[in-house]
Amino acid sequence: MATAFIRLGSRSIVMPVFISILLIFLTFLLSCQPATPAAPPAQLPASSPAAPAQSTPQESQPAAGTSGSSAAWVPDGTITQGEYQKSKSFGDYEINWSADNEFVYIGMKAKTDGWVAMGFGAEQFMKNADIVEGYLSDGKAAIADMFSTGEFGPHPADVQQGGTDDILQFGGKRENGATVIEFKRKLDTGDKFDKPLVKGANKIIWSFGADDQPTNKHVTRGSGEIDL
Ligand code: HEM
Repeated sequence: MATAFIRLGSRSIVMPVFISILLIFLTFLLSCQPATPAAPPAQLPASSPAAPAQSTPQESQPAAGTSGSSAAWVPDGTITQGEYQKSKSFGDYEINWSADNEFVYIGMKAKTDGWVAMGFGAEQFMKNADIVEGYLSDGKAAIADMFSTGEFGPHPADVQQGGTDDILQFGGKRENGATVIEFKRKLDTGDKFDKPLVKGANKIIWSFGADDQPTNKHVTRGSGEIDL
């Protein structure tokens, strides 16, 4: 009777117990499997160059205060990397410059199909500003060494006022919607219609027009300083 009960019991109990143990064993085995490696994060392939730490819109504009021009100055209307020691942007107008003990080298660039200009030592508005204005004439660069006699002009050429033309070298061109004019002059020309430039800060005014008629008023103008 007891034997019969055990047999009956072994049939009715042993199978479910065996299946349970099997399941526990399988679960244990599965839990011991090494974890599936996490999917790699979406990223650049390893062969891609590292992204720059910062992407700023100033990539093409050397920061103000950059020193040490490493390329030769060539007044060809193309401002190359390292051609100027320093550079500053005023919106659509950019001025690049270098100086040694005797000369200053300037590259003016503005997003315009017209003239570009700068002036030294303006007093009230444009008054007494020593202005240099560059433009294209029949596709060739032209430049004028001027002096503004009034607050809002006129600014005839120095030679028309009894002075001298002191732009020693210049050149320029229009490309990709921008006009570039480069020029060289002495820091102190000796002409009374030119302001002597000093080492350190020099106040400037700048402007550009919409066309190549140099007597037409600017569409954009402003002021600032450059550190020679
Ligand atoms: C080409 C002939 C030019 C004319 C007819 C002219 C006319 C004027 C007039 C009427 C103003 C006062 C109104 C305004 O602010 O727009 C002015 C302001 C000014 N102009 Fe000219 N301008 C001429 C060229 C230049 C040049 C070549 C420069 C720079 C190199 C220049 C720099 C300035 C500046 C900086 C002001 C603002 C002054 C201030 O508000 O402090 N202008 N101009």
